[in-house]
Amino acid sequence: MPRPLVTVIGAGNVGATTAQRIAEAGLADVILVDIVEGLPQGKALDLAEAAPVVGHDMRITGTNEYADTAGSDVIVVTSGLARQPGMSRDDLMTKNAGIVRSVVKQAVAHSPEAILIIVTNPLDAMCHVALEASGFPPSRVIGMAGILDSARFRSFIAQELGVSVTSTNAFVLGGHGDTMVPLPRYSTVGGVPITELLSAERIAALVDRTRNGGAEVVALLKTGSAFYAPAASVAQMVDAIINDRGTILPCAALLNGEFGVTGLFVGVPVKLGRKGIERIVEIELSDEERKAFDHSTDAVRELVATLARLAS
Ligand code: APR
Repeated sequence: MPRPLVTVIGAGNVGATTAQRIAEAGLADVILVDIVEGLPQGKALDLAEAAPVVGHDMRITGTNEYADTAGSDVIVVTSGLARQPGMSRDDLMTKNAGIVRSVVKQAVAHSPEAILIIVTNPLDAMCHVALEASGFPPSRVIGMAGILDSARFRSFIAQELGVSVTSTNAFVLGGHGDTMVPLPRYSTVGGVPITELLSAERIAALVDRTRNGGAEVVALLKTGSAFYAPAASVAQMVDAIINDRGTILPCAALLNGEFGVTGLFVGVPVKLGRKGIERIVEIELSDEERKAFDHSTDAVRELVATLARLAS
């Protein structure tokens, strides 16, 4: 049987690091694609030359041609522009929507059965663009956000309690922005909810840091945004899909009545396997959690409406 094949579009920080993680974990052969000539080829060559030292036999290639990506099992979309000085949020959204639309159309033409993982920001809006551009069923268009946001929350919880990150679990739902909804009640250490282990005040501080997790990294880096944790999060999704694990992970999924929402991509727990999203897992929300979730959903709805207005 041929090895699984993953195409990663965008050979920038997130894309190249994702390619590295997928290959070095032995998950799949990887094709890196970028609009810049030489960039994906150079990074792929460098990654391939690390393989003998790391000890894996995955093939990593770079290209500017979508024909080379034919038959991919998973397509990861990280291509986009970072916000430039003087560029408004709306400008950025229009530009990235154009990029995501174009790369998705080209890629799915050669891999009609693939599963799409969207990473480009603003995430929730870009998922809508990808769904429309691909014509794929919603089960095969998945946004990466919740794993990253939850990983940030988990790392802060572990630091706070001085325990291994591997003993922590967390769920962050809703849109991928300031309104995201970390759920302390469903966030545990060794199976015990953190609401039993930490004061309300400390939890509020960790929740706040989680909401600003992306901005905290940007402020330190000065140029560019986070890429190690985003790439690790994508690799976990690829692993769940390629190995048909049925892992329950928070991802952006198109809701069809679940959580009382229809026709919007929102971060929710899903079961990920070879067919993509195999189930959306509905969990009980308290009144307060529900309010925060609705507020976040409203923000996503507004984002998508802005995108539609800008496109018309
Ligand atoms: N086709 C292919 N590649 C493109 C296109 C296009 N039309 N337009 C831009 N790119 C490529 C750029 O050439 C660049 O190499 O996308 C890459 C983006 O890489 P970076 O600028 O390093 O950005 P990165 O940090 O990887 O973030 C990518 O992921 O987390 C999100 O907010 C982040 O939207 C951003 C995306």
